[in-house]
Amino acid sequence: MSDKYHELRGQAPPPPTGCPINASWSPLNDDYLRDPYPIAARLRRDTPIFYAEELGYVVLTEMDDILEVFNQPDIFSSENVQDPVFPVAPMAQEVLAVPDFDPMKVMSNRQAPDHGRIRKYTRQGFSRRRLRTLEPYVRRRSHELIDDMVAAGGPTEFIDSFAFPLPGETVFRFIGFPEADDEDLKNWCGDRKAFSWGKPTPTEQAEIAEKMLSYWRYCRNFTAGKRDDRADDFASELLAAHDDDPAELSYREVESIIYGLSFAGHEAVTNLICNTLLCLLPRRDQWDQLVAEPSLIPNAVEEVLRFESSQISWRRLTTADTTLRGIEIPAGTQIFMNFASANRQDDIWENPDEFDIHRPNAAQHISFGKGMHYCLGANLAKFEAVLVLEALTERLPSLRLVPDQPIWSSANITFRGPEQLLVDWD
Ligand code: HEM
Repeated sequence: MSDKYHELRGQAPPPPTGCPINASWSPLNDDYLRDPYPIAARLRRDTPIFYAEELGYVVLTEMDDILEVFNQPDIFSSENVQDPVFPVAPMAQEVLAVPDFDPMKVMSNRQAPDHGRIRKYTRQGFSRRRLRTLEPYVRRRSHELIDDMVAAGGPTEFIDSFAFPLPGETVFRFIGFPEADDEDLKNWCGDRKAFSWGKPTPTEQAEIAEKMLSYWRYCRNFTAGKRDDRADDFASELLAAHDDDPAELSYREVESIIYGLSFAGHEAVTNLICNTLLCLLPRRDQWDQLVAEPSLIPNAVEEVLRFESSQISWRRLTTADTTLRGIEIPAGTQIFMNFASANRQDDIWENPDEFDIHRPNAAQHISFGKGMHYCLGANLAKFEAVLVLEALTERLPSLRLVPDQPIWSSANITFRGPEQLLVDWD
């Protein structure tokens, strides 16, 4: 295994012997992108484990099987989670082949024991205190963006005017990037989800690769500058840990953590905010209940994460021969965990295809994963979504979706959310 943040893998291994093969299903099929849930439920009922020929992955659809995988990180390694799922075009490879593009695996794709060593420091950085320090910023920016929407008048495209800028700016403040760099940063970090989990054209891949390179170079300069310019931010905390014991947290690890965090904290939260509106605005009674009773908002956010998560799959790679559901799975097999299926199981949730902000066990979803790689930003993501809903229900109680607009999710195996969202208000 190399230590490269994004590894380019070769040919997928053949299907495991005895594993049912599905030659037609792909998470990028149009019908699945439009509405994955009935298809995922059918797959779970007919063949809970199968080999998806188009993807070259063994797909798991049952919660228990997915948990078994999460709970055995030594056999089901996360080393492939940031790798591009489809081949990277030579022109994009060339961009990233420059010697100074060398971010390394640090969190989601780093393995034990190093993962635990690094997570000790990053976990400290995601403390409740740090979240509290961000609260006034997220509230102020939410209200400023709403002010701008109101001043411009409806209808508005909500992603551009709110759901894209807010989470990006939030994670940039969390890390410690200066506000003056926000526009460059949003541009560089904007389409990262397409690179590893989508199917961009070679030209698009090369464009994204250029932005990744610019962003990596920015992270390196920023980290170097921070050495003599500490503040109350996550980057300064990491550098202090490095200064205390450079062997415990290396300088390149600090740079690479900063590189990975902006993506982790941005597009998935943009999608979560949009999916929240897609769930709530057409169900007027539930939206109105949140307007009247904001204390219901945290559970409503959990229900969105279960019912229409911004992340509906994640991957693993087997490091040893093993078995799943009685099927022998050789080392080197790529595993695709289908959260869209598991989050709607009727033996876990009553009427799982209904959206219900009062659902008592909404939070049992696996949208943030489980086990040693459990999402480090889960509290930050939920806290942002709650603050956003508080601001929107207070300021724009008449918010509604513009009728008859096409809602589509970009071609992505993992991240789910609309490409465009038109909203209006009185
Ligand atoms: C709705 C938004 C989000 C979703 C659905 C989400 C989901 C996930 C998932 C499924 C994992 C992998 C868990 C595993 O492999 O077991 C993960 C890991 C991670 N997430 Fe998130 N995430 C979100 C937001 C964030 C935010 C806001 C941040 C930080 C600013 C963040 C930082 C991370 C990090 C650092 C990891 C790797 C943790 C580790 O390997 O120890 N995430 N996330």
